[in-house]
Order: sequence, then structure tokens, then C-alpha cells
Amino acid sequence: MSITSQEELAGLQRISQAVGITLKQMREYARPGITTKELDDYGGSILAELGAKSAPRLTYGFPGWTCISVNNEVAHGIPSARKVLQEGDLVNVDVSAELGGFWADNGGSFVLGQDLHNHQPLVDASRQILRTALSRIRGGVRIADIGGLIESEARKAGFRVIKNLVGHGVGRSLHEEPSEIPCYYDRHNLKRFKKNSVVAVETFISTRASIAHQLNDGWTLATKDGSFVAQHEHTIVITDGPPLILTEANQIWE
Ligand code: CO
Ligand code: CO
Repeated sequence: MSITSQEELAGLQRISQAVGITLKQMREYARPGITTKELDDYGGSILAELGAKSAPRLTYGFPGWTCISVNNEVAHGIPSARKVLQEGDLVNVDVSAELGGFWADNGGSFVLGQDLHNHQPLVDASRQILRTALSRIRGGVRIADIGGLIESEARKAGFRVIKNLVGHGVGRSLHEEPSEIPCYYDRHNLKRFKKNSVVAVETFISTRASIAHQLNDGWTLATKDGSFVAQHEHTIVITDGPPLILTEANQIWE
């Protein structure tokens, strides 16, 4: 969407804060021994307290309140009562929700407890690359150039990017125009970021694979070759200068 009034900005700030709080509290609640279903139910209860509705459930009938993807899962992981979190797991929580007709999307990967499998460098690279990309986005900048920046920063850090998962416009629904904000230089993408528009920018930084495949459950996207992927995502408003990072109110990933 494109913001045209203070009321619209306030509505977006409200839902962005709700998803940010939910994500932060879920991360704090996560610990070895609990299932991803328990973690998701906790997130669902926070969203409900804040008056927000789960976006993937509302939009796609997703079987969970939030997406929780563990280790080789990249995105859209289904919370499960059989999946027990372990010390050192690479965990991604992605929270998107609706409140009062406004939608926001916020996600992040983290290492659970002690970093037994050395995932932290991947997580740090993803978070830093998102920060760098956001600092360069403003009205008139080509979407493809930001993708190229994400890919080159990943390469510099010794990583690659997933090419079939992308950021997107957001605001009045979960997925809007621009429909694709990729993590690589897509020369066919001639679109530019527009001032006052609302987008969700997300990194998909990979140890090796460049494609995520859908599993038989019909939702979960995972790597086939055992690669690990870290994702960080913020909902932002584009301006003439640095963007307004709506989901950063809680400083969750510091
Ligand atoms: Co998301
Ligand atoms: Co998103």
C-alpha cells in the first residue's frame, strides 16, 4: 500500500508493534525441550491479547499462528507437537498479522541456547545484510539493485542467497505489489521502490543452496542438500531518505 494519511501510518504502526512484540516474546520463550507447537500457541496467545489476527492463517489457511522453521527448514514451517527444540538449533520465527485492516510482517532467525553447530556467523551475516540493504532503500532505487547488494554482501561473508523466496509489498493485505523483492540481481525486474509505499524486505542467506523446495506437508520450504538458511525481515515505509522501520520498535535482534 501507499500511505496517504496519518491515520494509515498509525494503523500500520499499531500492527507492526504487535508483530514485533510477539516475535520478541516468542524468542524469549523458546528453550530446549519445548515443541514448536507450544512456542506457536504462546505466540498465538500474545497476538490474541493484542487484538491481532494471524496473517498466514487468515490469508492461506496455514495450520499455525506463526511460521516456525528449524535447521534445514527455510520458511513456512508448520508448528508441530512432535517437533522438540534442541540446544543449538537454528530457529526461524516469522510473525505476520492483521489489526484494524492493516497488515505487517516481521521475522528473524536465531541460535537456540549454546551455538553447538556454529550457526551464529550465518545469523549475524543475515541480520547485518538486512540492515545494510534497508539503509540503501529509498524512493526511486531499483529493486534489482537492492537484490544485487544483498547477494554481493552474502558472497563477501562466504554465503549465498535463496533465489525463490522474496520480500513483498504489504499493508492492506499480507502480499501486495511489488510482488517480488528478491535477494539477487534480477535483471528482468525493472521496478523501483516508491516513496510512501510499505514493503516487507527479507534476507534469505544460505550456506550453499540457492533454491528452497516444498516438502510433502504442502507448506514447509527446506533445502535438499543440508544447507542452513537465515532470514531476517522488517516491514518498512519508504521515504526520500532512510526508511521508517515499522517493526523495529522493539530492537529485537540486537
Ligand atoms: Co514474514
Ligand atoms: Co514476508
